[in-house]
Amino acid sequence: MTVLRIGVLTSSDTRAAGKAEDTSGKAIIAISEARGWIVSAYHVVPDDQEAIARAIIEMCDVDEVDVLLSTGGTGLGPRDICPETTLAHADREVPGIAEAIRAESMRVTSRAMLSRGVAAQRGRTLIINLPGSEKAVRESLGFVIDQLEHAVEMIAGGGHG
Ligand code: MTE
Repeated sequence: MTVLRIGVLTSSDTRAAGKAEDTSGKAIIAISEARGWIVSAYHVVPDDQEAIARAIIEMCDVDEVDVLLSTGGTGLGPRDICPETTLAHADREVPGIAEAIRAESMRVTSRAMLSRGVAAQRGRTLIINLPGSEKAVRESLGFVIDQLEHAVEMIAGGGHG
């Protein structure tokens, strides 16, 4: 088992304003810790491009988390800006992860097609956008979580031992 360092980013106007509890970010933390991983950074920011970018850059470049799991801001609303901001600050996309999340999620709800979440690498960090609700987070993360340790080993230059 590889002990991953996880960063959690919640993009939500209401949660950042303290008007709603961040149950989705807390679910990511609980799921990660149940795996034995370390959550070393946690940001709750409004649906604002600069705020999201600042959190992404800090967690990738300063905290050097292995995996940054974001929640929220992936939909079609006028303030949903998380995928664009992720790609604007990434080195390259990892499309298969987002494809898997949407494909598996479509078995649960057709509304999964409305999430524009992406996965990408910035430096040695793998960034994965998850939708905003706690339900969607638990389902989406569940579809890809088993591949994350291997993904991080590959980013570090490991082969297929
Ligand atoms: N994916 C899963 N697995 N389960 C869900 O309930 N909800 C969808 C979708 N993806 C959902 C899901 C809905 S209703 C929306 S609008 C989009 O994610 C975008 O969510 P976001 O804008 O909160 O990021």
